Amino acid sequence: MFLVFSAVVAVVLTVLPMASPPRQILLQQISPDSGSSTFDWNLEATPDTNWTGHLIFDTVSSLLQHWPNTRHRNGHNIVPGSVPVGTLLYHGRGNNAIPTLPEWTATNPEHSFTFCWDSMTNNGSIAGCWQLTFVTVRPLRVLYFDGSSGAKMENGPMDAQDLLLWGTADPARRMDERERINDLCAWGKYLGIDGYVRMEMDFEVMVCDFSNGVELLSADYLSAWMKESAREPLIFGTILSGSWHGRYPGETRVHLDLTKLISFYDTSLTPSLIPDRESKERWDHRVLGISAPDLAVVKRRLQDVLGSGTNMGSGVDWKTLYRVVVDRYADRLETLDYLLDTTTTESLHERAPIIQTELRIMLTPYILYTTRPSWLSTAGSASYVEGIDEAWALPVWRACATRHTEHIHKNSGLQSRLTSSERLLLGALDGTNREICRVLVRMWATGVHAGLDALLPGKEDSSTLVLSQILKQWRTHAHSLIAWLDWSVWVKCRPTCPAEEICYLPTWPYFGVNEWDRKDEQWKRPQPRCIRKFQPYSVLT
Ligand SMILES: *[C@@H]1O[C@H](CO)[C@@H](O)[C@H](O)[C@H]1NC(C)=O
Ligand SMILES: *[C@@H]1O[C@H](CO)[C@@H](O)[C@H](O)[C@H]1NC(C)=O
Repeated sequence: MFLVFSAVVAVVLTVLPMASPPRQILLQQISPDSGSSTFDWNLEATPDTNWTGHLIFDTVSSLLQHWPNTRHRNGHNIVPGSVPVGTLLYHGRGNNAIPTLPEWTATNPEHSFTFCWDSMTNNGSIAGCWQLTFVTVRPLRVLYFDGSSGAKMENGPMDAQDLLLWGTADPARRMDERERINDLCAWGKYLGIDGYVRMEMDFEVMVCDFSNGVELLSADYLSAWMKESAREPLIFGTILSGSWHGRYPGETRVHLDLTKLISFYDTSLTPSLIPDRESKERWDHRVLGISAPDLAVVKRRLQDVLGSGTNMGSGVDWKTLYRVVVDRYADRLETLDYLLDTTTTESLHERAPIIQTELRIMLTPYILYTTRPSWLSTAGSASYVEGIDEAWALPVWRACATRHTEHIHKNSGLQSRLTSSERLLLGALDGTNREICRVLVRMWATGVHAGLDALLPGKEDSSTLVLSQILKQWRTHAHSLIAWLDWSVWVKCRPTCPAEEICYLPTWPYFGVNEWDRKDEQWKRPQPRCIRKFQPYSVLT
C-alpha cells in the first residue's frame, strides 16, 4: 500500500501503526504550518469567504505596477521602501527656484511636464516652462501607498493616506494636496521619511526636503505646448509613460521592503474591515470603514516598522517567490479557461483529453510515479479517507500546495526571523497556492476517473454525457478560481490592439467629460480598450 501514496505520506506512515492509519494524525503531521496546522485537506472545501489572503497575494504581486493599480484604485497596502542613489526625479513648475516646501516630482519627465502650466500667462502666449531635474545623492527613505493613491478622487483611492494623517477620508478634502503633502512630511519627519510614492497617470515621489538627499541636476526652460489644442500630446505622453510600468516588474526605481509591509487586508490587524467588505465587490472595498482602535493599531505598527532597522527579516525574496507562483499559473490558467470556453459538443471528445493533458502538465512536478487512483491500488487505501473518491490524489494536492514554502515551515531558525509582515505574506501565499492546487487537482482527478488521462487508466467510460458533465464541472471550477484570484494579468484588450494603438484602462483624470461627476460603470469598474498612441488621438471617454 505504500506505493499508493507519495513519499511524504509513506514516511509518516512508517512511524504509525501499520493498520488503518488514523486520518487526523496523518493529515496534521503533513500539513503546512501556515497558522493552520489543523488544516483539513478536503478537496471539496472552498476557502472561507472572509479570508483575504488571495487579495493580499494579488495586491502584493501588483505593487508598483500601473495596470493593476489602475484597475483596483483603492489601495490597501502601505510599504516602506527606498529610491536608490542616482535616480532622476522631474519637477515641472513656473520658475526655476528650487522648492523650499515639499513638492511633487515625477519619475518620468512626460508626467512632470504636464505641471508646467503654472507659467502660462493670461493670454496663453508664453512659449516655455521650467523643468527641474533632480538626482538622489543618497537613498531616499520613502513610504508607498498602493492603488491609484495620487488620483484625487472620492470613493477610496486616497483613504489610506488621509486616514493616516487626518483620521478620516473627507471627500471635501480631495484636492487639499498642499495640506496633504505638508502634513505627510511633518508626520514622517521624526521617522526619517524623505518622501512618499503615489500613483496616478504615472508614479510620483513627493519629496519633503529638496535640500536633503537630492541635488539639482538641471533647471531647463523648455519650449512647451501651451495652447489648449495642444494638450493631447501631453496627455498621451503621460499615459504612455505610465504604461511602461504597467506590468511586472513595474516601477523599478522604487525598491520596496516587503518585510515591513502593512496591509489593510490583514484581518488580524484590521478586523473591523471584515464586516465592512461583506457582500461588496472588490472594486468597492474601502479602507475608510476601519474602526478607530484598528486605525490606532495600524499607525502603531507603521511607526514600529519604520523605527526598526534595515536588514530585518528572513532574507526570503518574497517578490520573486510570489512571482514564481504567478508565472507558473497565469498563462496556463488563461489557456485552460480558453480551452474550456471554446469546447463545443462537437469538439468534446477531441478536446477533453487535451484539457486533461494541460491539467496534468501543471501538476507534473507533484504526480509521483506511484500515484495511482484508489481503484487500482490494493485494499487499504480506499479506507484512507472514507467517502472521498479523490483521496488517492490528496498527496498530489499537498505536494503542489506546500512545495514552495515547506522549507520555511520546517526551518525554525528561519521562522523565528520572519517579521509579522512576512508571516502575513507567507500565509497569503500558502492559502492562495493551496486553493489553486486544490482546484487543479480536483479537476485533474475527475479527468482521471473519466479515463481522459494519458498516463492513468480511468474508472469510467467517457460517454458524451459524462464528458459534457465533466466539462460543465471543469468550467465552474476554473471560472470560480479565476474570479477568486482576480489577477489583473488576465485583463487585456481582446483582440490585441493593432500596432497604432495601446491597451488602456480608464484612469483619473481622463474619464472624459465631467470626470468629477461620472458615476457609470466605466468610471467605477475600469475595462480595457484600445486607444491610438499618436495623432489623431482617441477621445478619452
Ligand atoms: C501676452 O502676455 C505676455 C506677458 O504678459 C506679453 O509679453 C505678450 O505681449 C502678450 N501677448 C499678446 C499677444 O497679448
Ligand atoms: C464573516 O464575517 C462576518 C462579519 O464579521 C461574520 O458575521 C461571518 O460569520 C463571517 N463568516 C465566516 C464564514 O466566518
